[in-house]
Formats: sequence, structure tokens, C-alpha cells
Amino acid sequence: MSEQKTDSAGGRSSNESVVAAYDDYVTPIWKSLNVPVERASGCTLEDADGNEYLDVFSGISVTNVGHGNEAVVDAAKEQLDTFVHGCSYVHPNEPVADLAERIAEVTPGDLQKSFFCNSGTEAVEGAIKLARKYTGSKEVIALEMGFHGRTLGSLALTGNKAYKQGMAPTINDVAHTAPPYGYRCPRCEGEQCDADCADELERVIGSHTSGDLAAVVVEPVMGEAGIIVPPEGWLERVQEITHDHGALLVLDEVQTGYGRTGELFASEHFDVEPDILTQAKGIANGLPLGAFTAPAEIADAFESGDHLSTFGGNPVACAAALATIDELQGGIVDDARERGEWLGDELAALEEEYGVVGQTRGLGLMWGVELVEPGTTGPQNVAPAPDADLAAAVSEHLREESNVVMGVGGYYKNVMRFQPPLTITRDQLEVALDGLRSALEAAT
Ligand SMILES: Cc1ncc(COP(=O)(O)O)c(C=O)c1O
Repeated sequence: MSEQKTDSAGGRSSNESVVAAYDDYVTPIWKSLNVPVERASGCTLEDADGNEYLDVFSGISVTNVGHGNEAVVDAAKEQLDTFVHGCSYVHPNEPVADLAERIAEVTPGDLQKSFFCNSGTEAVEGAIKLARKYTGSKEVIALEMGFHGRTLGSLALTGNKAYKQGMAPTINDVAHTAPPYGYRCPRCEGEQCDADCADELERVIGSHTSGDLAAVVVEPVMGEAGIIVPPEGWLERVQEITHDHGALLVLDEVQTGYGRTGELFASEHFDVEPDILTQAKGIANGLPLGAFTAPAEIADAFESGDHLSTFGGNPVACAAALATIDELQGGIVDDARERGEWLGDELAALEEEYGVVGQTRGLGLMWGVELVEPGTTGPQNVAPAPDADLAAAVSEHLREESNVVMGVGGYYKNVMRFQPPLTITRDQLEVALDGLRSALEAAT
């Protein structure tokens, strides 16, 4: 018999007991920030021992309108009381119909018809299938260092060996082109990348594919790679090359969508119109929902039976998503854009203050702080060496000394990630910045 790990009220009694149960019963793939959560509200997390933390990571960029947002919770509760499941593709229902119509209104360009699933990786998988069906072609190109999910199709697109080790083979017919990572771009030799760097795509199509191209899949701002924002004209050039080859441009906005970058969708910062847009994470503020949306002409390439998900388009999650969009459009995104500009200036100052801050970059409330070993030469000889140990130490110091939960990411695991609920106040951002400064001082 295993030891009893719940208190008399049926709740976990302490951080220790929650972690012990994880060790015993949860498949050991979880990468913990060491803050078991008992409750959450706004930008605050409370752990099972009653400690409070400022959350500037939003459960990997998900709770965009704040933990426990009242309007979203009320909408979900109301739908829970009405009905929970009918399989959206077997029984048409209003929450799905309303959300699909709303997404058509708020997404860029001619995007019109949505397919609903439960996660980001499913959205990407479905988008690849649709692109193949519509174009009649097979091959897909994605970016080196990009991240698109962990199921085998999305994993094939993911341009990072760390996620693939021991998992091969994934799907075939995927090639990768260079990301717009100006700080470490071998082509630009230390200068900023520009639109011309996108021409690498043309070379990759010519040398690594048969030319039978269905789609080019790109994150408009690369999240897991370390918050990489493309230079002006880069994404537009990618779109041009993609279309010249008869392929579709799939923009993966799983992480950047729903207000994260200071616009409802990051594509709006650029002069591009995605042919398919993938969404998840912030769409329903934490309820599991994913989607891909395409113009009617493309979406209609799918015939009955080509794709389905039993839980996809769950009415509770769809009701929550509708309330989330209402909240975002009620001023949260505009405020986030303004606070993000202020945060960007504050972070830029860190580059001057600390030799270990190599580059800060971002849009809206999606910012990365790349930590480096000063005075060294990094990969491809273009920037100081990434310092993943420092990033881990800074994250720990933030949590232990300042009660701030901040993510660490990046291809080299050396980027501190500011991706808070968009409702975060200037005062709360100042707390996080003070914590970051004192962590940098302590760790260096
Ligand atoms: C850009 C992007 N696409 C897809 C995914 C996969 O989403 P999920 O974890 O919901 O499957 C992620 C997750 O981080 C992501 O950032």
C-alpha cells in the first residue's frame, strides 16, 4: 500500500506530498519550476505550503487574461451546467459555432473556417494535413530551432535535436531553413539579420527538397527558441518565396496568439496573411483548446472523414475562449502593448548594466533576456557563449529570494522569459525586474 498523501479535506497537504506523489505516479517527463500550485489568481500563484509567488510565465504563456479571470470562469461554469460534451463534429452546437464565427472576425486576412482540437501540437498536425490535401503536395519546411510540439508530425517540424533524441523516425519530407536569429546568425557575421536572410529558404528548397512543397511553417516570433523577433521584411520575403513555390504559409501562433505580442495575433505586426493559422495556449485562458483556421477555399479541401477529434471543440472550452476574446478586446491587449514597450526599455538598460546580458528582445509582453559568458566567442563565432548554468541560477534565485516565477528557455537554454499574464501591472513588473537585477548580481 502506498502512503496516504491527501489531507482530511481531500487536498494535498504540502508541497512535499504533491512532489512525492508526482515522483511515484506521474510519468517522469515533467520539468518543474519547483512551485507546486494550490491556487492561482491574477498574476499570483499560491503553493501547497501557502507561499505566494508573482507569476511572470503564465504556465508557459497561457493564462493571458489572468489566472481565475472571473468572466472566463463564469462562462465556463455556465456551459458546464448546460452540457459538457456532445462531440462537436457529431452534434453541432452553439459554443463551437459562435467561437468559429468570432475567430473569423478577429483573425487577419481571409481566414474563415476553423477546426478545433485540444492542443497546440494537434493544431500543427492538422494544419500540415490540410496543406497537403489542398496543395496535393507533400513536403514541409520549418525553421531550425523552431518548436511546434511533441507528437511525431509536429516533432518532425521542430528544429531542435534535444526534443527528438530517441524518438526517431518522425514523419518524412521535412526540411529546415535558417531562423532569423540575428544575434547568432552566421550569415550576418554579428550584424543584424535583414530580409535577405530569408533567401536561405530558396536555397533549402532547391537543395533539400524535391520541390513538391505543401507548406512552410513558421512562428512569427519564435518562442521556445528564445523569443526571436524577425527583422523587418524577413517574414514578408518568406511568404513571397513560399507562394512562388505554390506552397501555403502556415503561421504557428500557438504561443504568440491571443494578445501575447501586443496585437491579438503576432502576424498583425507584419505585412503577411497566413494561409493557415494555428492557435492554442492563450485561446481559452487555460482550458484545453487548439484550433487551425484557413480561408474557406483552403479549408474546404477537407472532405468528411479527413480529420476529426472526439474532444476537439469542447463546448466548455469554447465558451471560455469566447469570454477570453471579449476580455482581450476590452483593453487588455492595448494595455499590454503599452506596458511591453516600457518593459522593453527597462530590459535594454540591463544590456548596459550587466556584461552577462547579451541581448534583450521581444514584442508586447513576450520578452527574452539572453544570458552569456562575457568576452567569450559563441557558437558560429558571432556572439558570446550562451550561459545556461547562469540562467538556471537566476531562475532559482528569483524563486527563492524574490518569490518570482520566471521561465527559462531558448535553443541554448540561456534565455530568461518574461511572458506574464497580460493583466500584470507596472508595479508587478517592477518587482520582477528588481528580482532579476538582484539575481544577476548574486549569480555573477
Ligand atoms: C509555437 C508552438 N507551437 C506548438 C506548441 C505545442 O503546443 P502544445 O504543448 O499545446 O501541444 C507550442 C508549445 O509550446 C508552441 O510554442
